[in-house]
Amino acid sequence: MVKKFASRIGTIEISGIRKAFEASSGEFFNLGLGEPDFDTAEHIKIAAVHAIDSGFTSYTLNKGIEELREAISAKFKRDNNFSVSPEEIIVTSGASEALHIAILSVVEKGDEVLMPNPGFVSFAPLTKLAEGKPVGVPLSDDFTISEEAVKEKITDKTKALIINSPANPTGAVESEENIKALVDIANDRHITIISDEVYEHLIYDGLKHISPARFSDEVITVNAVSKTYAMTGFRLGYVAACDEYVEQMLKIHQYIQACASSISQKAALAAITGPQECVAEMRSEFKRRRDFAVEALRDMGMEFRIPKGAFYIFPRLRDEKEFVETLRKRKIIVTPGSAFGSLGKNHVRISYATSFENLKRAFEIMKEVVW
Ligand SMILES: Cc1ncc(COP(=O)(O)O)c(C=O)c1O
Repeated sequence: MVKKFASRIGTIEISGIRKAFEASSGEFFNLGLGEPDFDTAEHIKIAAVHAIDSGFTSYTLNKGIEELREAISAKFKRDNNFSVSPEEIIVTSGASEALHIAILSVVEKGDEVLMPNPGFVSFAPLTKLAEGKPVGVPLSDDFTISEEAVKEKITDKTKALIINSPANPTGAVESEENIKALVDIANDRHITIISDEVYEHLIYDGLKHISPARFSDEVITVNAVSKTYAMTGFRLGYVAACDEYVEQMLKIHQYIQACASSISQKAALAAITGPQECVAEMRSEFKRRRDFAVEALRDMGMEFRIPKGAFYIFPRLRDEKEFVETLRKRKIIVTPGSAFGSLGKNHVRISYATSFENLKRAFEIMKEVVW
């Protein structure tokens, strides 16, 4: 039978990161992945095992268990300096689902969504699945999003602006001043901000993460325990916004997901309310690797910006394809910059979420092939 698929599927492709991931089985130094290489902390694993042992294995409330939403609400107050009630939070299956329901709830056919170019691989496809139009905002030289660049792209059809600080794939961190300026423009033009904050705790050099929701109600905040607590496989995220947004997002969440995993919810509760040393340890190891990567790339004479957050570095090259292929032949995987949007071309994303030893060896090899 000839298969007839919905035309909207034809508008998206398998992500460039997945392609790198699939090509990387075997003896590779994988600098292509976007997840911490650390083990989940013991007390979090114990909470998950306990959930199973005690039979906490059924559906939960669609929004997620109350204790977890209370903990997330307290976390927003503690870490992000804004108030949302537990009722204004939906626990999701990773930040991926949170982004999906946020975009589906506000974007309709023909709506334009502003997003960083280069930016995280899911922003544009999720917009297209909602039949909206992704509009890339070119980044400044330091990879931040400027007020002017956003203004230039706003039209009568602009519905949402996606902010992602610290950013994937560049590691850029937005300043408080800039976040305020972006919130002001969005408010003036009745544009909803979707703020993806999954790397909020991976920030270096004394900089602070600033949530746009501190300054406005017209913000949907997306986050997850995935990166902060090395819990990517638990698939546990959350979304917070004022009542009106939550009411609409909940309808979608209810039908596409029902609820996040009950076991992962208990694990996330232990993560958010338990000791936070594991986060500080991971951050300090990532900083050590960031510093090492910066020195190594400097030695090679590469052109790049020092990343201030996340675990990526995004150097610029003459020819991205040739570089990626040459490295692949030497068993090193990096992600081509164009996987992150047209303006990512002739860059590569190097992830330092791999052991220090792997990183050292990979950079030694890289040094041999850099021309
Ligand atoms: C910016 C950004 N947002 C969202 C996600 C997805 O996170 P999760 O694994 O919680 O779905 C990622 C994962 O790489 C990411 O880099």
